[in-house]
Amino acid sequence: MQVHSVATSPFKDQRPGTSGLRKPVSTFQQPGYLENFVQSIFEVAGQPTGETLVVGGDGRFYNSDAIQTILRMAAARGFARVLVGRNGILSTPAASCLIRNHKARGGIILSASHNPGGPDGDFGIKFNDANGGPAAEKVTEAIYRKSMEIDRYQILDSPEIDLDQPGSQMLGATRIEIVDSVEDYAALMEQLFDFDQIRELLQSSGFAMRMDAMHAVTGPYAREILINRLGASADSVMNGTPLPDFGGGHPDPNLVYARELVDQLFAENGPDFGGASDGDGDRNMVLGARFFVTPSDSLAVLAAYATLVPGYRDGLAGVARSMPTSAAVDRVAEQLGIDCFETPTGWKYFGNLLDAGRITLCGEESFGTGSSHVREKDGLWAILFWLNILAATGKNVSDLVTEHWRRFGRNYYSRHDYEGLDSGQAHDLYSNLQRTVPALNGQERGGLTVATADEFSYQDPVDQSLSTGQGIRLIFEDGSRVIYRLSGTGTQGATLRVYFERFEPDASRHDEDTQSTLAPLIDLGNELAGIHARTGRDRPTVIT
Ligand code: G1P
Ligand code: ZN
Repeated sequence: MQVHSVATSPFKDQRPGTSGLRKPVSTFQQPGYLENFVQSIFEVAGQPTGETLVVGGDGRFYNSDAIQTILRMAAARGFARVLVGRNGILSTPAASCLIRNHKARGGIILSASHNPGGPDGDFGIKFNDANGGPAAEKVTEAIYRKSMEIDRYQILDSPEIDLDQPGSQMLGATRIEIVDSVEDYAALMEQLFDFDQIRELLQSSGFAMRMDAMHAVTGPYAREILINRLGASADSVMNGTPLPDFGGGHPDPNLVYARELVDQLFAENGPDFGGASDGDGDRNMVLGARFFVTPSDSLAVLAAYATLVPGYRDGLAGVARSMPTSAAVDRVAEQLGIDCFETPTGWKYFGNLLDAGRITLCGEESFGTGSSHVREKDGLWAILFWLNILAATGKNVSDLVTEHWRRFGRNYYSRHDYEGLDSGQAHDLYSNLQRTVPALNGQERGGLTVATADEFSYQDPVDQSLSTGQGIRLIFEDGSRVIYRLSGTGTQGATLRVYFERFEPDASRHDEDTQSTLAPLIDLGNELAGIHARTGRDRPTVIT
């Protein structure tokens, strides 16, 4: 087997977004496209001698092809060992777990998360560092710079590796180990949660649950953990077989795309608990009987009850949330007397805080929740955390959340997404806000006084690195907020996200309809940005 050094030239569009490089499958199928990016990752990662690399993905179309290429390149590069999930399958949190357990140099995760898959869908690639988490911005920028000047990549001329065959085989001087995709992850879950207590709940006649794996990567994990280890009934896991095109669906666990699950939970005599996860298994949605838990509230509830769960019995070092996420968890942190950090959108910003032991739990409004157990958000972990709390308290989901609101107040919250906008129009809208919003400081709008009007930037408290341009904030004196951001994960045109939040301390006003109670803020936010006038849209594409 011979190492080929192949001449190539840069593609100019390989700057990683909020979470890795995501493009339509057809973009990745261009000769050299994947290879250039992988070579750039390897060069930034440094000398591979004696090092281990973890590789796996969410099973979407092009997953196995990409893995074959990466294995040949890893062998050409000189890694000692590559761990690959069987059949190329690793959920994002399971990949993070493997990197940590095996002290790997890092991992390459193939996924476009919740974006649709299939030949006409999206593909993605992400580098995770030795801590198991998404590479920090300075690393992703270095990869981008490499990709702009690349002129050669190295690849081994070798036959395909059988990804279905557990055990190890040599590729040149590199040992390729095909590992069970679930084992390490499932063992970690057993350490964190009280499986006996959860089993008792799942097997009691008065409790039924559904976990919607959305034909994506969580299926094998959910079946092994919920059904085989925790004794849930066989019909507890829906859409549990990963498909390369996710069954034609949009594997994003929210009220719109997980409709099948939502309909079951909102039916008369439906199940007591519902969970869903996304394409690569890092997002989660939590539902009770006829009850939706917002991701922001979910983080707050987990923080409030964490000490009931074995893995968190000693309490939390601190918590963090992304800036657009509601401030519900801030109130819990205040009462617990622990730090609460506000970071830019994207999981990579939690890494330093987790590594430094400053936080234990963190989350995002975008259906992402996680903890120090790995360095990614973790869908199934969040669902197990909820089940553990339900089992330990004997309460149902809606009682737990409404009691939480009574104790801490309720943060009404909603996100409006305008997808597929013309990129020029969306950027004009945003730059107009950059210019006009700061002047609103101290002014009154819609009966509310503006306390802060700026563009969010973040200085990492651990390494002091500064991230600017992280969303326009309009914060009112009563804590209400309107936030604007342009998505960094979309692949078609541009997506504008507008986030609305209003705090309501009065428990007698905790069962209002979210969109109605936020309506004045929504009108104000839409008008200030001129959404209709500038984009022609009179309503969002998706409301969560
Ligand atoms: C979106 C979410 C963000 C999340 C990311 C990856 O990014 O808003 O919270 O971390 O997906 O799952 P965006 O498209 O907004 O840049
Ligand atoms: Zn995801």
